[in-house]
Amino acid sequence: MHEIRKLPIDGTPLSPSSTLDHWRKEGAATPLEYEDGHQGLVVTRYELAKLILEDKRFSQKPIRMPLHHIDREESALGINIVDGELSTASDLDPGNLLFLDGEQHLKIRRAATSRFSVRSAKGYESDIKAAVSKQIENLIAQGSPVNLSEHYSEPISAAGHARVLGIPDFLFGDYERLFVGKSEENEKIEYLRKVLAFKKESPSDDLLSDLVKSELLEKEIEGLTLSLMVSGRDNVAYMISTGIVALLKHPEQLQALRDNPALIDGGVEELLRISAVFLTMFPRTAMEDVEVGGVKIARGQSVSVSAVAANYDERQYPDPYRFDLTRDAFGHLGFGNGLHGCLGQQVARIEIKEGIMQLLQAFPNLKLVHAEQDEPMSFYHPVAAYQVGEVIVGWE
Ligand code: HEM
Repeated sequence: MHEIRKLPIDGTPLSPSSTLDHWRKEGAATPLEYEDGHQGLVVTRYELAKLILEDKRFSQKPIRMPLHHIDREESALGINIVDGELSTASDLDPGNLLFLDGEQHLKIRRAATSRFSVRSAKGYESDIKAAVSKQIENLIAQGSPVNLSEHYSEPISAAGHARVLGIPDFLFGDYERLFVGKSEENEKIEYLRKVLAFKKESPSDDLLSDLVKSELLEKEIEGLTLSLMVSGRDNVAYMISTGIVALLKHPEQLQALRDNPALIDGGVEELLRISAVFLTMFPRTAMEDVEVGGVKIARGQSVSVSAVAANYDERQYPDPYRFDLTRDAFGHLGFGNGLHGCLGQQVARIEIKEGIMQLLQAFPNLKLVHAEQDEPMSFYHPVAAYQVGEVIVGWE
């Protein structure tokens, strides 16, 4: 067995820590000391990562993961964890997709899946295009140079979420204030109750209207709504900004895309491969002694899959550090995989694609002025997720 290691903090979204390469060379999984001091494993090889994410013998309930001595303000997913206890939102856990296993997880997930199919995502496309065009106008109004994350990527991600969920226009400002800005858990819950009450009164053709009409219990509806309002919104913003940084740093790839816009479909996958958000995804806990891909994992042990490390596994992606829009990057773990694989991935693809392409078309001389993410930034926890940071761009 190797010595216990801590997650490396010297990586950035477009330049992951070389420590991950060393760990991957040594084995498929490496002993890891978590933030709170407990010990588990981190998976760095692609094949084992996929197997674990598909394996029902692992639980995703955070309660199984020993969470002692944690006193964190707020995680990436709006979950408060204070002294190892999940606070306020725990009442809504029966509907929070990210915290569920087995039949209950399937039941809750099924209540939302049809609104996330390829077909449904296509149906949101024209509204997403319009939301992106509106933000191009906003950038022009702001003038060069501008913080792309604040004035473009974040508003697009919020508008995309509002469209898919069916948040009414008059409550959209509050959604941005509470979910893009910082807010307390109880404020978020109070807000989502207001939205659900409105949907009950005035249902329309959207996901939240489906939920209020469904047979789910009230707590389940509220928990699912909370997880949907929170999940992936910031990741869309991260991917638009980081995708632009990647392209502006690789002028030959940028030119290829400008010359042949059809490259964007595969290109989005390659961007998700080289700049996955999650250094580690939600920790899983083995519910029994397990042997998977030749690795023994004891009952009760925590295991975290590193999407970043798996996406740079040369067994799966030859010459992994080469950024190549024409590469076949499908199957990357940027959206996770298996039981908890990203529900919003089809709509996310459209938002990233539109966000990148409309920006390139509007500004033929787009330049990178500064990207805060070029230097390592702190992670969001309990998952170690990269932050997008300020991305300042300019044009002539
Ligand atoms: C670039 C954008 C996005 C990225 C990179 C992303 C990434 C992920 C990943 C890695 C997971 C799996 C977490 C795990 O297994 O530990 C996940 C789950 C999830 N995502 Fe996304 N996501 C994105 C956009 C979205 C959007 C736009 C939505 C909704 C509108 C969304 C909703 C969800 C939900 C509900 C889950 C939980 C699924 C479950 O537990 O069954 N995501 N996402």
